[in-house]
Order: sequence, then structure tokens, then C-alpha cells
Amino acid sequence: MSFHQKIVRSSEITPKAVFENRRQLIQSAAAGAFGLALAPWFSREALANGPQRLAATPNPSYVVGDEPTSYKHVTSYNNFYEFGTDKTDPFVYAGSLQTKPWTVTIEGLVKKPVTLDIDALLKLAPMEERIYRMRCVEGWSMVIPWDGYSLSKLLNYVQPLGSAKYVEFISLADRKQMPGLKSQIIEWPYREGLRLDEAMNPLTLLTFGLYGEVLPKQNGAPVRIVVPWKYGFKSAKSIVKIRLTEEMPKTSWSQFDSREYGFYSNVNPAVDHPRWSQATERRIGDPKGVFAPKIRTQMFNGYADQVASMYAGMDLKKYY
Ligand code: MTE
Repeated sequence: MSFHQKIVRSSEITPKAVFENRRQLIQSAAAGAFGLALAPWFSREALANGPQRLAATPNPSYVVGDEPTSYKHVTSYNNFYEFGTDKTDPFVYAGSLQTKPWTVTIEGLVKKPVTLDIDALLKLAPMEERIYRMRCVEGWSMVIPWDGYSLSKLLNYVQPLGSAKYVEFISLADRKQMPGLKSQIIEWPYREGLRLDEAMNPLTLLTFGLYGEVLPKQNGAPVRIVVPWKYGFKSAKSIVKIRLTEEMPKTSWSQFDSREYGFYSNVNPAVDHPRWSQATERRIGDPKGVFAPKIRTQMFNGYADQVASMYAGMDLKKYY
């Protein structure tokens, strides 16, 4: 059996230390030793069921030289404004998110509009594990083993019409499940978008898991988008709708401030955010903490070979 074909379980692909670390995290969280006010669901649900496995085949075309960020950091330092604006809020509060039943509707300029149940979506294409560099617009980064398949598989399934130019992603917005919706920081639901060619690029991952397990709620369960050459906010979490359009969709962050958050938002060390430089980044979980040397951010987050041609001839200062 080749490396490609071998279906590995997460225990085989995740370093043992990571697993032990994770078990410890769950135990100390249950004991209240993690230093957070834990929601009551956590000890009940997490301890009773444990994380659910997701069989995925490692894809050796998508690996990076750097050590993956620990499961603990990937799942406890998050941006998910529907659950609050502090980095630990999603870990603490996302337990109220109901991920089953869950459907995703694909509509707009497609030949075959469809609403798919999450189980049908999971089975639409073989699940791969890919290790991606992720860079947040705020200047921090992580290396994450994601499990999913290219979004192009789903788009080809619904058959985009010739007039489709953009793809819009819409996250769930339910006040009953998402305490962060009380604040009006951005317009809900959270909306993001890509140009159709960007959405069809093999790197764009429809994502169901990380580290060989179903996505934790704080990371956007049960299904999200991951676009590794763009700033993190392009990677919409907990999506319920995908719409193909002719016009460039309005996105939550560009509506908040279009000077600060453009539609493209390609990682670009040469184009500063209006309030800070984007030339370097801080890797979350580096044992040296604030004394860790800053890493130089790479053009397109290191994915130039796969994506630069899509922007040939474009002024990336203007189309930030
Ligand atoms: N999706 C939704 N629906 N709501 C959010 O607040 N935050 C974005 C993105 N997707 C966000 C979202 C931002 S700013 C980042 S950096 C990434 O999710 C963080 O993903 P992670 O927490 O899984 O690392």
C-alpha cells in the first residue's frame, strides 16, 4: 500500500507527545486547572466522548518544513468573533454551537444547486491531511495539519455557470448559540469571498478536521474554508451557505473598514496594514514566548509557486 493510499488514524500521524499533551489539557481543563472559567458542557461532553477521529490520508504534496503548532495552541488561541473577541473566548464558549444536524446550501450561478447534509458532504471526496502554514492579519502564525478536500471537488459537483465569477461563504449566525452576536463589531452573518479561480485552486481546502479529528467547535466545526495564502480572516468558519455570484461579494471585514481589509487579502510582507507592518510574524506556541525571534513573512505565505500566476499583472498594493 502506498503512502497515498494508506488510511491512517490520527494516532499514527500525530506525534505521541501531542496526544499526551491533549489528554492532559482535557484533564486539567476538567479539573479547572487551565485557569479559565470553563463552560459546564466542557467536562461533560469532552470527557464523555473525547475527540472524534476522522480518517484522512496524508498528502505529501502539502507539507512544510516547520514543526506543526501543538494541538493545545491550535484549539485554545482562536479568532471566532461569534463567541467573543478574546483569543480564549472560542475555546471557552463555543460548546453551545450545535453542529448536528448541519446542512450546507450551494446556490446562485450553478447548474445543480443543492443542500447537502454534513454526512453527505463528508463523503463527497476522499479526505486528505495537509499541513498548511496559516498567517493571521494580526501578525501571528501557526502550522496546522488540516483534514478535508479541495473545495473544487464540491464546486465541480454543482457545476458553476459561465457567468459565475466569485464565490461567497456565509457562516452560521444564531443568537441562541453564539453569544458574540450580541456585539455589533461586524455585520452578521460572517461573510467572506474568493474569486472563482481562487476558490478552484487546489490549495483551497473544504475542511472538516484537524490533527486527524473532527474540527473542534472553536476551529469552525463542522465545516470551514481554509485558504493558506491569504490572511486568516478569509478562512470562514462554520459555514452554512456557499453562493456563486457575478459581482464581487461584500465581506464582513471590508464592510467594517475597507481601507484595512481588502477583498484579496493575500499575505504580502511588502504591503503593510494601515496600522502595522506585515513584514514579520510571531509563531504561536514557540517555547521562547515573547523572546522568540520574529519570522520573516513570505510572499503569499510561502505558496507563491501555486498561486502567484492568478495575480499576474495585478497591482497588489491596489488590490490588497
Ligand atoms: N470565521 C467566522 N465565522 N468568524 C470569525 O470570527 N475569524 C477569522 C477566521 N474565520 C473568524 C472566522 C480569523 S480572523 C482567523 S485568524 C481564523 O478564522 C482563525 O482560525 P483558527 O481559530 O482555527 O486558527
